[in-house]
Amino acid sequence: MKANLVFFLFLFNLEIRHVFTDFYSSIATLTQLSQNELKLVSALRRFIVAQEKQEEDVDKFLKQFLRSTEGTVSEKVIDNPIDAFHLLRRWVEDWQKCFDIVICPDCDMNGPHIDFNLTRSIVEKRIGGWPQKTDLDAAVSAIFRLWNFYQFDLHKFLHGKIFEFETAPFTPADVIYIANKAEEFNNMYNSIQFLETLLDELKKGKFPNSHVTPTTLSRIIAAAYNRYDMPVKSVEILKECTKAEPGNKRLHNDYDYFKTRAASISKLENVTAFDKAEAEDNMTRDYENLCRGSLKSPKELSRLFCYYKATDDPFYFVKTELANLQPRIFLFHDIISDDEIGFLRNISEKQLSRSTTMTKQGMIGSEDRISHTAWLSDLDFLELKKLTLRIKLITGLETEFETRYSNTEQYQILNYGVGGMYKPHVDPLSDRSIFPGECRGSGDRIATIMFYLSHVMYGGATVFPNIKTRIPVQKIIELSVLCREKRAQNSKILIRLSFSVGPFT
Ligand SMILES: *[C@@H]1O[C@H](CO)[C@@H](O)[C@H](O)[C@H]1NC(C)=O
Ligand SMILES: *[C@@H]1O[C@H](CO)[C@@H](O)[C@H](O)[C@H]1NC(C)=O
Ligand SMILES: *[C@@H]1O[C@H](CO)[C@@H](O)[C@H](O)[C@H]1NC(C)=O
Ligand SMILES: *[C@@H]1O[C@H](CO)[C@@H](O)[C@H](O)[C@H]1NC(C)=O
Repeated sequence: MKANLVFFLFLFNLEIRHVFTDFYSSIATLTQLSQNELKLVSALRRFIVAQEKQEEDVDKFLKQFLRSTEGTVSEKVIDNPIDAFHLLRRWVEDWQKCFDIVICPDCDMNGPHIDFNLTRSIVEKRIGGWPQKTDLDAAVSAIFRLWNFYQFDLHKFLHGKIFEFETAPFTPADVIYIANKAEEFNNMYNSIQFLETLLDELKKGKFPNSHVTPTTLSRIIAAAYNRYDMPVKSVEILKECTKAEPGNKRLHNDYDYFKTRAASISKLENVTAFDKAEAEDNMTRDYENLCRGSLKSPKELSRLFCYYKATDDPFYFVKTELANLQPRIFLFHDIISDDEIGFLRNISEKQLSRSTTMTKQGMIGSEDRISHTAWLSDLDFLELKKLTLRIKLITGLETEFETRYSNTEQYQILNYGVGGMYKPHVDPLSDRSIFPGECRGSGDRIATIMFYLSHVMYGGATVFPNIKTRIPVQKIIELSVLCREKRAQNSKILIRLSFSVGPFT
């Protein structure tokens, strides 16, 4: 089997920066929001204090929002999908609402108003834009993706727990918001699962301060079923409540209406559950399964082994682990130092921008690839020369980067978003017209080297669906795929490094 089978898109050098000013697609940009939010909170506090001093009425929302954020906002790293959701919801909806209240061209903008507006401009400049509704939608999509891939417990999730991690819980209103998004994304299965899980928790009294009662939520769920022509389910959901609340007129109106509709449903149309969306093809199914865990049989695993690999340097043997036999995938251990990792992360941080994929329509930021990329060459950063030479020694391939007829591309540093990922793809380009400029004339990609530059909260494996191979994240493990059979004649190696592989994918 060839190493590189499936694919449709690949990554490419990024020439235009700040075209995709999205925040959700990298942990670095999400964390930047988190670090700037305290500034907004203190500006809001200053505004309220100043208004109160002048004995002006302060909007109720502002006061209540300050109270709720003062305790929760901190400068933490955002690597948890629940935190990412809360953070983006505040930036996209709540902060926007504060600005709409305080800053309006028609109102009387006195000192405190102007100060608040100034803080907004300063923060906007620092973060290079403002999160948009699309960021929030993407944070919700990430929750659905992670739930689909990693199948965490939804009951616990609603209370802020995911695997062994715990953070701020969702409110029932948040869960209804997420369920509505699922319906907007045409995923009724997810919508109903979130709502019914919430109903379960409400009935158990797990949200004691909820404004949403089990009856209200039951009516919401019944209406959702009815919208999808499943009135039999609507009746079933409301049955219990109607017995418990004989005086609830709206509830009984709903119930009677659904009963009438249910009576006219024929047996054939009587669908009572939404199907979970299954992977469209075997490759996607294997990709998802591999992200969850290994698919190799004990027999296949027993044929893999570790050894010390000799190099051209008679004193240098590399600790090597075989991860797949055919084609060969190697893990090389103890190659890159903490200092080198720190250096790569430091210099790339300022250069990260939305990763793009090459399509026939050109380079685009795509939902197939949720990350930010920086490109680094060892011509610009001499500190990287040693690493380049080490890779040459280990692989026996030419690794020097040149501006023309190069044997390699630049180092590519990736920072994934929460729930970020890169969908299955092949690295070779095959179409010569889209080779990176510096590699024109030197042939196609024949190998990829990857380094994990950080550990992750959960998930993050690199998987090869067609050969059922999974490489979990382990800091300081390097992985190299040498696809010799195809293009062995030109010794070109693509060097890739990935940093902060997005937790959860
Ligand atoms: C708020 O600040 C921005 C940027 O400094 C400015 O363009 C805008 O006019 C200000 N708004 C008001 C209502 O003063
Ligand atoms: C629809 O299916 C449910 C469950 O299978 C059943 O209880 C109900 O009687 C059916 N209703 C009709 C109208 O066929
Ligand atoms: C997909 O997998 C199933 C079972 O694993 C198999 O029967 C089927 O032939 C496969 N389909 C393709 C197109 O390979
Ligand atoms: C990276 O940057 C941090 C903070 O600026 C600094 O403390 C650290 O020494 C740098 N690390 C390397 C390896 O350059």
